[in-house]
Amino acid sequence: MATKASAGARDYTVKPLFAEPYFVTSIAGAITAEQVAFIQSLKMNRNQVNHISDDLYIFRHPELASIAKAVDGALQTFATEVMGIAQRLEVTQSWALMNPPGVGMHGHTHSNSLVSGSLYYAPLPDPPGNMIFERHNTYRQLELAVDNERTNIYNAPRNAIVPKEGDLVLFSSSLQHYVEPNQTKQDRHSIAFNSFVRGKIGSFRDVSELEV
Ligand SMILES: [Fe+2]
Repeated sequence: MATKASAGARDYTVKPLFAEPYFVTSIAGAITAEQVAFIQSLKMNRNQVNHISDDLYIFRHPELASIAKAVDGALQTFATEVMGIAQRLEVTQSWALMNPPGVGMHGHTHSNSLVSGSLYYAPLPDPPGNMIFERHNTYRQLELAVDNERTNIYNAPRNAIVPKEGDLVLFSSSLQHYVEPNQTKQDRHSIAFNSFVRGKIGSFRDVSELEV
């Protein structure tokens, strides 16, 4: 008796169990030309290949107060509306970055931080150098390539964000990410920062309470 070739399932559904968000808002209205000049006058150090400000708490400068306030507002929106938590998110370290022509940033995550952010405070080169997020941040013994035409939100190994001037991007600090090399002759400027929760976590009665 002949056996039928496997035809695969015809009726099925695929639904998301969980999803990884990133958040974008424009804070262009909170950034002045004087502030752009101020940030670009900060002392920069070479950081492997890109350049990083010597000052690693730049949002504490009174000159950048309107930017720090806009970032704080976006973090509270992210905490309340996206994460659904009662605690505040407060910026910890904040630093300026500059990628000269040809330079990107290798893959990394941000330790001791919950939510990290990138701020594209100045005009960007064209192409702007995308920020690429990776699904995995650990060694994988088995890497199964996904067909290009079948790549979707469930199987994509990475996804790109195209930065725009004025954009503030928030994402989980544990997400592995890198920046594409700057293919232009102009410098690529950005700010990065980390944040942590402030408030009461856990339950007094369950003896899991922690005030941070
Ligand atoms: Fe980063």
